[in-house]
Amino acid sequence: MLLTLSHGATLVAIALRSNKRSHLQLSLSSCYITWARSSSRRVDWGAANIGPNWSSRASLEIANSGRKTSGQEPMQTQRCAVITGVARSRGIGRQLAYSFINQGYKVVGVDVQEPNQADDKLSLESFLFVTADVSDPAQAKHAITEAAQWCGNQIHVLMNNAAKLPHVGKEDPLKVFADTVAVNLNGAYYMSQCVQPYMPVGQSSIIHISSTRAYQSEPNTEGYSASKAGLCGLTHAQAISLAGKVRVNAILPGWINTDDAGDGVLRPEDHAWHPVGRVGIPEDVAQMCLFLCDEERAGFITGQEFVVDGGASKKMVYPE
Ligand SMILES: NC(=O)c1ccc[n+]([C@@H]2O[C@H](COP(=O)([O-])OP(=O)(O)OC[C@H]3O[C@@H](n4cnc5c(N)ncnc54)[C@H](O)[C@@H]3O)[C@@H](O)[C@H]2O)c1
Repeated sequence: MLLTLSHGATLVAIALRSNKRSHLQLSLSSCYITWARSSSRRVDWGAANIGPNWSSRASLEIANSGRKTSGQEPMQTQRCAVITGVARSRGIGRQLAYSFINQGYKVVGVDVQEPNQADDKLSLESFLFVTADVSDPAQAKHAITEAAQWCGNQIHVLMNNAAKLPHVGKEDPLKVFADTVAVNLNGAYYMSQCVQPYMPVGQSSIIHISSTRAYQSEPNTEGYSASKAGLCGLTHAQAISLAGKVRVNAILPGWINTDDAGDGVLRPEDHAWHPVGRVGIPEDVAQMCLFLCDEERAGFITGQEFVVDGGASKKMVYPE
């Protein structure tokens, strides 16, 4: 199905596709266009152009031929990246999407929840959002199939960034452990297995976003730490299994500020605690990802772990 707008300036559009229900909804106040036709939900999400009197000038075309906003076939030569965990506008996944799009990639963002707010940095031509729970093998497969279809059957990069984050709550610890490992580790494996048939040999990378918590812990974060350490094991195992085909590496971020409140939550001592003099930002992780996915610069690197933590994990810590 195709959704196009004939108009000028800025609008954020969301198209939801469903097999069970079919409706077209225009929400003028929020400048969203929502189209739903299935419960296996796919969201095309990005910015299009629309003029001030757009409601009178906009026209919607709904065609039965997949998502082609320009009427052209997807470019086979353009590199394509799938990134999980993109829903939060200040999260690392969203920054990965920006950074790879800026490098000319088409990006497919996958998340179990829909994006928390509209984002005019993501255009319909460069970004596709697919709703999926990566801990469910069928949904992981669905996400990759949708991505491959949109990307012309070639996916050059998979970044497994989605995660259940550590938190100390009152839930059953066995359930927390199982759920955390299911998303953070099993989900990364499922996505990796599904993507392999679409990865061009010698031009492709899988990046697992692990954590320095693979090696360091706070109390009661067993599931998170075990899953992040598991990603390090998965990294070297896949690097050997996929030798000569796909390079596989892990990034272990330290403290990266993704708080919705921004820099205001950080104290001077938080910055000063880091040997580089600041808390990390999502761009720090994105730069490492870009480097590792660049065949010319990083083609000799596979099976490795890269800590991006401002040197914090190298500090000797004494009792206060
Ligand atoms: N922020 C940090 O300080 C830090 C440090 C080390 C590692 N990391 C890692 O970086 C990654 C991104 O973290 P962030 O801080 O940007 O948090 P975030 O909350 O923005 O990212 C996690 C995303 O994963 C999604 N997700 C959760 N369960 C899912 C599922 N079942 N299927 C699909 N998506 C799912 C969430 O909806 C969310 O959008 C995570 O892997 C995290 O472990 C973050």
